[in-house]
Amino acid sequence: MRQAGRYLPEYRALRQRYGFLELARNPEAAAEATLQPVERLGVDGAILFADILLIAEPLGVGLEFPRGEGPVIARPVRTDADVVRLKPVDVAAAVPFVFEAARRVVRALGGRVPLIGFAGAPFTVASYLVEGGASRDYLHTKRLMYEEPEAWHRLLGLLADATAAYLNGQIDAGAALVQLFDSWVGTLSPTDYRAYVLPHVRRVIQALRPGVPVIHFGTGTAALLGLMREAGGHVIGLDWRVDLDAAWAALGHDVAVQGNLDPAVLLARPAYIRRRVQDVLDRAGGRPGHIFNLGHGVHPETPVDHVRALVDFVHELSARR
Ligand code: CP3
Repeated sequence: MRQAGRYLPEYRALRQRYGFLELARNPEAAAEATLQPVERLGVDGAILFADILLIAEPLGVGLEFPRGEGPVIARPVRTDADVVRLKPVDVAAAVPFVFEAARRVVRALGGRVPLIGFAGAPFTVASYLVEGGASRDYLHTKRLMYEEPEAWHRLLGLLADATAAYLNGQIDAGAALVQLFDSWVGTLSPTDYRAYVLPHVRRVIQALRPGVPVIHFGTGTAALLGLMREAGGHVIGLDWRVDLDAAWAALGHDVAVQGNLDPAVLLARPAYIRRRVQDVLDRAGGRPGHIFNLGHGVHPETPVDHVRALVDFVHELSARR
């Protein structure tokens, strides 16, 4: 889940002082944003404050986060000619601030909780590059994929290499584990996932430093879970549209899972949140290899006390088993 963000008053205060990209590029401020949820909520992991699109910016596509909106790409990548024009990314030179923020966070944490690094998976990052922003139907993305498959695979191959270097840089800076976000891949059928996405995800995961746990997450992935497992990852991240017990049984209990409370449950009162935490834990059945999490990020409307209560409930109820 995204745990930093606008539901936190201290994050909103930081955002009064910095634009989103300005904040992400300032290691001191980004480290502060990373530590805020750890201090306020008592979560068991710190998630590096960064964004999946920071690695896309050096391609020269013109990334912005206009106030109150999601990301916007000024020059979308729609054709083979657009793909050819992309600048190669020298990751160490392009995003040194991300690695510096990670080093600062690890120092400040002093081993209290691990730092989780992350990146977007090639499909999800490509969807922003091609659409120019958020999308519902991914029509430009699918047109490129179906109509110019060579350009598509060149784009995803380029993103896969940059993503692996980006994640390895975070690991070298002290991240204890990493999460790969394929947030929007649920728009694809299993057959298209296998043909157009799976090889590139596998390439990212196989290029990562050995021994570092990898969480592989997407939303709307009920029909894709087996293929996501095949692509790789020690942990498969589940969104809330699946029942955790059924999804885990289908994946096989020899892979770990993360999830999967509906973030909208946090809008209800704490007594109800507690019941729903119990339900997720019951479905995990006390097996090793379950990481409790939301099925996606915290909505900005969420009362911060409810998120705190969630963390306390997870600690209380999972200790009882
Ligand atoms: O502690 C954390 O969890 C923060 C780190 C984090 C951010 N982005 C910071 C951020 C993480 C893990 C991400 C990942 C990310 N970014 C994803 C994959 C995860 C997911 O939720 O599916 C995606 C798709 C993006 C792209 C992106 N960045 C979008 C769609 C948006 C707008 C969302 C919104 O709420 O408006 C962002 C901006 C963004 N990235 C915010 C944060 C805290 C909110 C922006 C703000 O401060 O105004």
